[in-house]
Amino acid sequence: MNHPELAAEVARRRTFAIISHPDAGKTTLTEKLLLYGGAIRQAGSVKARKAARHATSDWMEIEKQRGISVTSSAMQFDYNGYRINILDTPGHQDFSEDTYRTLVAADSAVMLIDNAKGVEEQTIKLFKVCRLRSIPIFTFINKMDRTGRDPFELMEDIEQVLGIRSCPVNWPIGIHGDFKGLYHRDTRLIVLYSGGDHGQGQVNVETISVDDPGCPARIGKSYYDKLIEDIELLDVAGDAFDMEKILSGQLTPMFFGSATNNFGVEPFLNRFLSYTKSPTPRVAEGEGPIDPADEKFTGFIFKIQANMNPAHRDRLAFMRVCSGVFEKGMTVWHSSSNSRVKLAQPQTFMAQEHETVDTAYPGDIIGLFDPGIFRLGDTICTGSPVRYSGIPLFAPEFFCRVSPEDSMKRKQFLKGVNQLSQEGAIQTFKRPNIGREEMIAGVVGVLQMDVLEYRLKGEYGVNILRENLPFRFVRWVVETPRPLDRLRLTSTTAVAEDRAGRPVLMFENEWSIRLACENNEGLVLAETADRMTADEIDV
Ligand code: G4P
Repeated sequence: MNHPELAAEVARRRTFAIISHPDAGKTTLTEKLLLYGGAIRQAGSVKARKAARHATSDWMEIEKQRGISVTSSAMQFDYNGYRINILDTPGHQDFSEDTYRTLVAADSAVMLIDNAKGVEEQTIKLFKVCRLRSIPIFTFINKMDRTGRDPFELMEDIEQVLGIRSCPVNWPIGIHGDFKGLYHRDTRLIVLYSGGDHGQGQVNVETISVDDPGCPARIGKSYYDKLIEDIELLDVAGDAFDMEKILSGQLTPMFFGSATNNFGVEPFLNRFLSYTKSPTPRVAEGEGPIDPADEKFTGFIFKIQANMNPAHRDRLAFMRVCSGVFEKGMTVWHSSSNSRVKLAQPQTFMAQEHETVDTAYPGDIIGLFDPGIFRLGDTICTGSPVRYSGIPLFAPEFFCRVSPEDSMKRKQFLKGVNQLSQEGAIQTFKRPNIGREEMIAGVVGVLQMDVLEYRLKGEYGVNILRENLPFRFVRWVVETPRPLDRLRLTSTTAVAEDRAGRPVLMFENEWSIRLACENNEGLVLAETADRMTADEIDV
């Protein structure tokens, strides 16, 4: 059953993540968006947080900022009647599997690209996760005030590297550091560039129609001629703006601008909000899609953050509301314990501080106090039990052989490793032919190895020995034409199994992956796997 107020709250919500490579301008863009919403009064506060987090590559120092990073995990603000939730995707030293998992909670993504660099490594990784879910991806080419690559070249880069076609919504005028402004293809208006930070207020910009007879003189004859040529080329040879393709993630609308100069940000935000949809139904196993405006409350856990203080074992579980109304103190069914629990101390996140939340609607992110009951991918709901499909395991990229320094402490060691695997901080693998004692820890962000060492020592009293392994890729074996030990693989490739005993191959480079597929017809590898529930696995 639906009710009108709930439907209206759903309709005005937009929940998205910004995906980018470090230094493309994510912090700057986030800050500008928050300024538009009036969520922060002073420019610089998001940036100050980032500086505090990234001034060091020492994990302990980063952890000291943990309270800060919790606050910025999800930022909520109102703008033009919309309620916007921006999910933070940590990208510097704190890049980890959590960054991927966060994308599972987003309805769309903004792909931010540095105009001089084009598509970079971390953007590719995050893009792939968005692709898996077929969510709409909007491209913002940043730093247009500076010399960068030719816009056609950037379009080609996106297509070649990411395999997605792009459709420019606006188009830059001027080259090599002489940026004149943006031409908006939908309105045929040129917005002339003016540098400088325009703060919170509307950017006081000068516009001129491309059809205005004074236009060539205003922007310069050669730039005008070039623009007309570019527009024709885009109209004839470019992809048409196709809403269906955009919403299914097959075509990315492309925008240009400069975040520091607050230029092109507002037109981007306005179009992004009107093109993207409010939270769409999510599919529950055996139930089909559940309408967000359905009165039945449902949500799922996508991130668990442990408290680093050993004196406080409590954790914070991040939950995305999928349908119905969330209310403080409500009793819900919880999937992995198959029992009813009361949700105490829910928190919502604002740009400045987190506050206790009384009600939340689909698309919103809530932090739940977790005494240790929640697992990644858990569904919670009112009424009869439903389960959303779980959050996959994403392939780690750094691997270490780990063992307890004191073999008498093996039991605590296993207990700790088990706990950290359940939280999703690490994944574990074994090479069956190496012997029972071997344990390989795999992580997405290399600093997570320090987290493992620190937490095993602090919480379980176990000092560990770490030995780096040269692998950089793990792939789950979905199908194999012959037993794994008879596959034709490079000498540096290892056969192993994951925590649930599923076969995997570990590679040192992408070339070895390609060779494995070429030399073994019928071999099917996957970059993600289903997360198994706790009672199905044993370390
Ligand atoms: P990130 O979160 O993606 O890592 O990037 P961040 O916003 O911190 O931006 C990285 C650098 O790029 C910063 O410079 C920032 O000022 C600059 N930047 C962001 N957007 C633009 C833009 O539109 N034009 C230009 N020219 N630069 C931009 P920095 O030198 O690292 O820091 P700061 O001197 O600004 O403090």
